[in-house]
Amino acid sequence: MNLVFLGPPGAGKGTQAKMIAAQEGWAHISTGDMLRAAVKAGSELGNQAQEFMAKGELIPDSLMCAVVGDRLREPDCSKGWILDGFPRTQVQADRLDETLASLDLKLDHCVYFHIGREILVSRLTGRLTCKGCGANFHSQALPPEQDGVCDHCDGELYVRVDDQEETVRNRLKVYDESTAELIDFYDQRGRLLRIEADGTVEEVGARLAAQLRDS
Ligand code: AP5
Repeated sequence: MNLVFLGPPGAGKGTQAKMIAAQEGWAHISTGDMLRAAVKAGSELGNQAQEFMAKGELIPDSLMCAVVGDRLREPDCSKGWILDGFPRTQVQADRLDETLASLDLKLDHCVYFHIGREILVSRLTGRLTCKGCGANFHSQALPPEQDGVCDHCDGELYVRVDDQEETVRNRLKVYDESTAELIDFYDQRGRLLRIEADGTVEEVGARLAAQLRDS
């Protein structure tokens, strides 16, 4: 199955995408994770992206579309994929359509994570991310077994630079201005599946699995 996960920062897209992609053998294509890896590696993409990310602004469309176009051509995408964090603008959505047409692929669903605004800030400002494997934890909702240490790879946990409250608020504003319009775009094409993204990780996962099964 080929899916787009859409929703505001902190809605739980990455948490659910990692779980379901691992279960189903699909590729999990997180543009945020790809950009953070590029920053860490000091690559040209990382150098260009760093400043935008630190402010909670979007990386230019041309750059993002090229990165995702190349990624979708990699062999591990042949069994299915989840695009997590892309598209984020109308230009990106149009370019994705063109790329899929050129690869003779179709998008099955855009899963929209619907959630109240007040929950997002507390999810993001409490997030802990692993420096090693990128796994996400939450200081209260999903704490690691040992303080500051990743359960999966023993890597060090850190607070993402864009998870400071002021930057979080800017990311939510950018989402409202540039990304939220894609909900209607995919709805009008009959591709939208809406899930309620509040509740525990397990509850949201069960809702998502049920919706995909029945779709
Ligand atoms: P990106 O990494 O994509 O950030 P985001 O969309 O803002 O998404 P998040 O990772 O913050 O939220 P999420 O919905 O995945 O939530 P998560 O599962 O982690 O992008 C970062 C930056 O890169 C952007 O600001 C931009 O600069 C750039 N960028 C990326 N893609 C781009 C693009 N296409 N175009 C241009 N620029 C781009 O969960 C959040 C927290 O909540 C975690 O702590 C988690 O443990 C916890 N949690 C999750 N689910 C639950 C639950 N059910 N109950 C309680 N806690 C939960």
